[in-house]
Amino acid sequence: MTRKIGIIGTGHVGGAVAEGAIFQGLADDYVLIDSNPEKLDSEVLDLIEAQPNLKHHANIISNDWDALDDADVIISALGNIGLQKNATGGNARFIEAEYNAKQLKSVAAKLKATKFNGVLVVITNPNDVIVTLYQKLTGFPKEKVIGTGTLLDTARMKNAVGETFDVDPRSVQGYNLGEHGNSQFTAWSTVKILDESIEPVAAEKGIDLNQIANISRDNGYRVLNGKGYTSYAIAASALRLTETILNDSHEELPVSTFREGHEVALSYPAVIGRDGVLGHGHLHLTDEEETKLTGSYDFVTERYHLLLE
Ligand code: LAC
Repeated sequence: MTRKIGIIGTGHVGGAVAEGAIFQGLADDYVLIDSNPEKLDSEVLDLIEAQPNLKHHANIISNDWDALDDADVIISALGNIGLQKNATGGNARFIEAEYNAKQLKSVAAKLKATKFNGVLVVITNPNDVIVTLYQKLTGFPKEKVIGTGTLLDTARMKNAVGETFDVDPRSVQGYNLGEHGNSQFTAWSTVKILDESIEPVAAEKGIDLNQIANISRDNGYRVLNGKGYTSYAIAASALRLTETILNDSHEELPVSTFREGHEVALSYPAVIGRDGVLGHGHLHLTDEEETKLTGSYDFVTERYHLLLE
């Protein structure tokens, strides 16, 4: 069975996703879509010229919406990160909300006209709001529209914890939850290093976990301020989510999904497979963490309704 991935938007982020997927051999067929056909031709040529030195063959199709009919996963990486250049840390992801929502309307209509019935992975920011808008505009099943959400913020938290405690970030368990934005938080009650709950270990060593939480929330802005966009880490998050879908691996990931009874998508651990979200985890959060999660949901819901107006 061949695997097909569609990528909508091949700028810094979509380009990094295409490169990562093709270099890893994640699929056989790729459909790349971009509003700038000349740039897309160059991207495709550059990727094709990598092929003789890669282990996997890839078939690349350009700007063909019908070719998305039988895609397994479509990744939305559209956006105008250029708008973020002058943004202050506080609002960078929302500064492109209106522009992206406008683009999304025509993209969603084109997607709706295809026979696509795979999973739509959304990178576009502001992530949770855009996931919700995509689902509403395409009418795709709620379990089949998933945002990368706080998978990236969780990775940033694991890096900061790993560095502080001198362990590999992959030996850190736990989650950042809520919005992929400023109202997110590290749920410290879920975080373990080498199988020990982090809070008592940090208290014993006199380590301030708030500082680590701030790093995981703010490092995106540090990358943005230096290079004008973020790309590699978000691409790695999107590719991990895509691989989980393609492999039907039922891995639990903190990604932006619709929980039971929720109107708006938000990050909370979800079990992911070929059909998208198969279920959600049940975290035993503290009262303070539950309050933060509700606050984050309320914030995203408000911003979503503002964008609909
Ligand atoms: C980041 C962007 C993708 O956090 O929101 O890197």
